[in-house]
Amino acid sequence: MTQNDAMTVEPLDAEAARAAIPALADILADAVESGASVGFMHWNGPSDYRAFWTGVVTEVEAGRTILFAARQGAEMLGTAQLQLVGKPNQPHRAEIAKVLVHSRARRRGLGAALMQAAETAARQAKRDLLVLDTDEYGGARQLYSKLGWTELGTIPRYALMPDGRDCGSTFFYKSLR
Ligand SMILES: CC(C)(COP(=O)(O)OP(=O)(O)OC[C@H]1O[C@@H](n2cnc3c(N)ncnc32)[C@H](O)[C@@H]1OP(=O)(O)O)[C@@H](O)C(=O)NCCC(=O)NCCS
Repeated sequence: MTQNDAMTVEPLDAEAARAAIPALADILADAVESGASVGFMHWNGPSDYRAFWTGVVTEVEAGRTILFAARQGAEMLGTAQLQLVGKPNQPHRAEIAKVLVHSRARRRGLGAALMQAAETAARQAKRDLLVLDTDEYGGARQLYSKLGWTELGTIPRYALMPDGRDCGSTFFYKSLR
């Protein structure tokens, strides 16, 4: 991968997602190692990350999640999920989850491209209210604000950082109407 290679973002069907589990597990491991609060602790390891992505593949297979892969050249360097809320009274809502870009490919626009792809897919799926939360300390807050998301507030001590410190979660929404 060089910085001149073209950047692409595409949804993965269940078969492609299953084949991508090792690459997705590497991206998740890198996020935890770089200190992001993304559901895992410093003591989690490759088998935990593979198990997580295996669960995501099940959701993709069931049509409940759209999983995106961002690449530069042939290399997978980022991912994001659009989770279609299944509640009968929220057919218009979806959640964005696990927006991850490998630490050696950040600040090149991959995160923004993943968010744009998720938004386009949400419109196609007729989901016009999007919700997400992120750790209060990460750069993701600036990313979402820049992309027009509304910050609602931070719940203190919502989760832990990988090293065990307390971490608040900051909630955002975006209406596509
Ligand atoms: C958050 C994350 C996905 C951003 O990915 P990225 O590819 O670096 O983002 P982009 O290059 O598209 O950034 C677009 C804009 O968002 C803002 N931004 C992104 N990361 C930022 C950071 N660390 N600090 C401040 N602003 C940031 C900037 O405005 C940036 O534009 P600029 O580079 O021209 O200044 C990436 O840092 C990451 O994977 N972090 C760890 C995992 C995580 O916390 N994910 C969020 C979970 S919901």
